[in-house]
Amino acid sequence: MKVVPTGGALGAEIQGVDLTNGLDDETVAHIRQALLDYCVIYFRDQGLSEEDQIRFTNYFGQAVEHVRKQRERKNKEIFLISNVKENGEEIGALGSHEVSFHSDLSYLKHPGTISTLYAVEIPSMGGGTQWCNCYAAYEALDQNVKDQLKGLRAVHRHYVEEQNPPGLIDHPVVRTHPETGQKSLYVGPHLTKYVVGMDRDESDDLLHMIYEHVNKSEFVWTHQWQLGDLVMWDNRPTMHRREPFPDTERRLMKRTQVFNADDVPFE
Ligand code: OGA
Ligand code: MN
Repeated sequence: MKVVPTGGALGAEIQGVDLTNGLDDETVAHIRQALLDYCVIYFRDQGLSEEDQIRFTNYFGQAVEHVRKQRERKNKEIFLISNVKENGEEIGALGSHEVSFHSDLSYLKHPGTISTLYAVEIPSMGGGTQWCNCYAAYEALDQNVKDQLKGLRAVHRHYVEEQNPPGLIDHPVVRTHPETGQKSLYVGPHLTKYVVGMDRDESDDLLHMIYEHVNKSEFVWTHQWQLGDLVMWDNRPTMHRREPFPDTERRLMKRTQVFNADDVPFE
């Protein structure tokens, strides 16, 4: 197995691993370390069944059903991200529009830790996914801004009202990764609503400043999808967004989500 860094803000390709096979402990440990080091890892040219993707996900925690219900399928752990329509109805989530920066499931008390996305159908243009290195973005802030962010919490909420748990969920604006001990920014324009205890204008100004900052190209890396790519990312120190693509084209991704009951963001 070989780990080849992208040379960008984060990310590495893992070569020499066939995910249709079960993996030994040593290989899993190497992959886990690469994920901690690079935050996003990808494997090209995989020919995965849903069972393969679920088995692989389960090496990193418990693969769970997504909070958003989809049409009944044989593997409840697989969630479809797609604009493909059957009988006039989209079979998956997120359509073909742009999806702005977010960390998955941050509107839950236990947000997403690790996620995987497997490319089954991709459009001829657009639809790339960009990840932001939120460790590096935090590190690059001026000390006075880091001091200003200390102790702040922000409310996160999904725009589909029924998808939210009862009550307001807030998380620290700066979180510490439970395994690396490093701090990262944990707010994004897609799911973060406001900073707790600030008036709305002050909160909007602060969040806007952070969103401009994380947008800088030095913190962002884009994955150009190829069929058979399996991308795995750690949501704790990253955010991601999806470029739009023509709705006349088809994009189909299969997704898994790891759930860790003891993983609640802390500063
Ligand atoms: C996701 C997601 C983006 C994409 O699956 O959580 O944001 O590129 N996907 O499909
Ligand atoms: Mn996402």
